[in-house]
Amino acid sequence: MSARSGSPPAHARPGQSSDEDDRTRRLLRWVFAQKNIDEIRGSPEKVLALIDKFSENERMMTVGQAKGKEVLDLIDEVKPGTMIELGCFVGYSAILFGEACRRNGGQRYLSLELNPEWAAVANMLVELAGLRSFVTILVGRSDVTLDRLYQTGDVKKVELMFIDHYKPAYLTDLKLCEHHGMIQEGSVLAADNVLYPGNPPYLEYVRSTVEQKREAAKQGPVKGYTTEGMRDRAVNSFMPEGDVPFLETVGNPNLVYESGLRQPEGHRDAIEVTRCVGVQEA
Ligand SMILES: C[S@@+](CC[C@H](N)C(=O)[O-])C[C@H]1O[C@@H](n2cnc3c(N)ncnc32)[C@H](O)[C@@H]1O
Repeated sequence: MSARSGSPPAHARPGQSSDEDDRTRRLLRWVFAQKNIDEIRGSPEKVLALIDKFSENERMMTVGQAKGKEVLDLIDEVKPGTMIELGCFVGYSAILFGEACRRNGGQRYLSLELNPEWAAVANMLVELAGLRSFVTILVGRSDVTLDRLYQTGDVKKVELMFIDHYKPAYLTDLKLCEHHGMIQEGSVLAADNVLYPGNPPYLEYVRSTVEQKREAAKQGPVKGYTTEGMRDRAVNSFMPEGDVPFLETVGNPNLVYESGLRQPEGHRDAIEVTRCVGVQEA
């Protein structure tokens, strides 16, 4: 059982400054100080290579090449018109996956990010990579932004969604999308960090049968975030203390999922890939 307080956050909450703030600024200055900056302009590969190089000496919470490859394979398969990402940070995954979506004939990549300063850094790097007209970074809480995307009619269906933000919000954001009918047959979810730091409540839900989900839904919506089995440092990161999800909902227990891990060889972490394969009516 995790607590919302007690151990230091892995990543600072809003209003707190962090090593990561310094690191992201250093990254930006270092990238734009490159002597061959004009050769880098317009090349997603070169911008990603620079972020990878910077990450050799400075710890960056990017998805990286190995797990990124698993999501690239999904993009090649699904070919989403719109791909959504929860958690942009400095834009590594937005550049990697945005380029792949564009190459596959997609129209746009929406990246949702809570921290406005990291979003600003990401915007600079996305622009440097030549993807500014394809990748849109939306600043704010993912649940509030997802709700707005639905309410405005901007996004009616989740085609492919990469989930890589506040660990307890994986499940509540998925349920919000289910609640609005945005998860439909053919929707695909790729969730990062499900083994390390781990996300037992999310894994349990996406691997449950319709009957198990219906049984659990009889209790009504869970209040707050479910954090059982999560590391304190993950629970205490990013979001303000005492924060609660925007919408209390049981989601749609009738959705049928097929779900499993994609783990790069020799890697301690993995991506959980979940496909909605239908709706089981009562
Ligand atoms: C692990 S990093 C994302 C890394 C990025 N996907 C990559 O691979 O390059 C997690 C990010 O999620 C953001 N985040 C955390 N909680 C969020 C929330 N509720 N809504 C939107 N973004 C959030 C954090 O500010 C942080 O930038």
